Amino acid sequence: MNIAVITLFPEIFNAYLKESILGKAVQKGMISVDVVNLRDFAKDRHRTVDDSPYGGGPGMVIKPEPVSDAIGHVKSDGVDTLTVMLSPQGRLFNQDMADAFLKETRRLLFVSGRYEGIDDRVSSLIDDEVSIGDYVLTGGELPALVIIDAVARLFPGVLGDGESLKDESFMWGILDYPHYTRPPEWGGRKVPEVLLSGNHKEIARWRRKEAIRRTLKRRPDLIEKAALTEEDYRLINEIKEEEDGYD
Ligand code: ADE
Repeated sequence: MNIAVITLFPEIFNAYLKESILGKAVQKGMISVDVVNLRDFAKDRHRTVDDSPYGGGPGMVIKPEPVSDAIGHVKSDGVDTLTVMLSPQGRLFNQDMADAFLKETRRLLFVSGRYEGIDDRVSSLIDDEVSIGDYVLTGGELPALVIIDAVARLFPGVLGDGESLKDESFMWGILDYPHYTRPPEWGGRKVPEVLLSGNHKEIARWRRKEAIRRTLKRRPDLIEKAALTEEDYRLINEIKEEEDGYD
């Protein structure tokens, strides 16, 4: 999987992409991330990439020329590329978008802005604009890493057997079930009996039910959108009978 990023802070990417699961995937060559320093495309000897906004107001705006040149540099190898800008004004990122990015055959190029943003005229070079949430960060580096992480972990082989994807309830658009490990009793709280039973069918049913219970409590909006089965509706009825306060 072929990814490139344009940033004023390459070290942020290099540090994160060295570690843990993504670090191993990069080392093994399963994913490659080309980190391009926007400052290398500044025109003057002070390596300036920003300027004050037309119309006045606080902060600085990233100039269009270095961004355009950096994008041109990435694309100069002729590889078909999907250029994605990170900003709070973009489409809201979610698991479906991670799945869609994973299926992309084009190289993914993430453009991380800083300051008040990038001169709007570069929008002609941008295919998609994505936000990771309704809050404002100091730059697009963390959002780009969030997306790279969410997409790369779906790439076949990136997660080892121990971290399999097949069981993830977020794949069905609901929250994950509760997890437990040893000891069997901690702080007066026991691990649910069924998980110690060895009955895989019952364990799967319990997990599904607890995932739905959590989602009903914490994110009822997800239940409305999730692709639920008839069995799920049976589980919802059981949960409603067990607990007061729903409906
Ligand atoms: N840049 C600053 N805040 C952001 C956000 N929430 N999502 C994407 N890019 C951003």
